[in-house]
Amino acid sequence: MIINVLGINGSPRIGNSQYLLDHALESASEVDQGNVKIDTYAMKGKTMNPCIACSHCVKHHGDCVHDDDFAGLNDLWLKSDVILYSVPVYHMSIPGQLKCFIDRLGNSMFGRFKSEMPENMDTLPKQLKVVGTIVQGIHLFSGQEHTITDLINHALIMQCIPVTGDLWESYIGAGGWTSNRIERNSLEELVKKGDMDSEAAVRAARAVGKRSVEMSLIIQSGILANKKLLGNDRLYKPLLDRLKDKG
Ligand SMILES: Cc1cc2nc3c(=O)[nH]c(=O)nc-3n(C[C@H](O)[C@H](O)[C@H](O)COP(=O)(O)O)c2cc1C
Repeated sequence: MIINVLGINGSPRIGNSQYLLDHALESASEVDQGNVKIDTYAMKGKTMNPCIACSHCVKHHGDCVHDDDFAGLNDLWLKSDVILYSVPVYHMSIPGQLKCFIDRLGNSMFGRFKSEMPENMDTLPKQLKVVGTIVQGIHLFSGQEHTITDLINHALIMQCIPVTGDLWESYIGAGGWTSNRIERNSLEELVKKGDMDSEAAVRAARAVGKRSVEMSLIIQSGILANKKLLGNDRLYKPLLDRLKDKG
């Protein structure tokens, strides 16, 4: 079965987040060579304006009033089966550009799927995309777990499935720290020097990539095996539409 993976680098630069994301994507593609299709997206240079709460998207099928880079990432996000977020910790949370995207994604979904949901229900469809999170920051005890939790909460709101990698490297996602270094290639350099924490971050990122694709295979097989039953519930319609060419 083809699994479409989207790797999002949430940093405004190409650096440590990209390094861990590349590992995760390589590992993801190894689950089933040739059947894992990878798209990547980097926030670097993109404009993501904040939601202005105008409700235009809710009334106009998810379209947003801002003319910026939102629509491109929105389209990729919607068609993917697996989303891998790799982000730096910013102020104990995710960077602003990604937060702007997520706010708008969430609200625009109400408008986009309104006509497909049961009447009088202000709800979101069961996306059941698998979401894996990779987070690193400059310090230790400086927000990695909070940031992963923010992305897990986002996954749950979007009716998706958050997954982790493997213990002990990955409790709730992949996490790393750059031993107080600010350079873009800090983690890569630390790995070359045999730094244990950085090596663990790479292993964790790779496990998140692998387990995310495996979970997506499991979920999609289950959905397809039960499509007659699930088809009675309109909240599954967008998902069944997404999987219609898969069996
Ligand atoms: C605005 C800003 C806020 C940051 N806040 C945190 C923080 O709260 N905790 C932390 O560990 N690192 C923080 N950092 C450091 C970055 O997370 C760290 O340098 C990371 O390795 C950058 O990843 P990148 O190379 O993918 O951009 C911050 C950096 C910036 C620019």
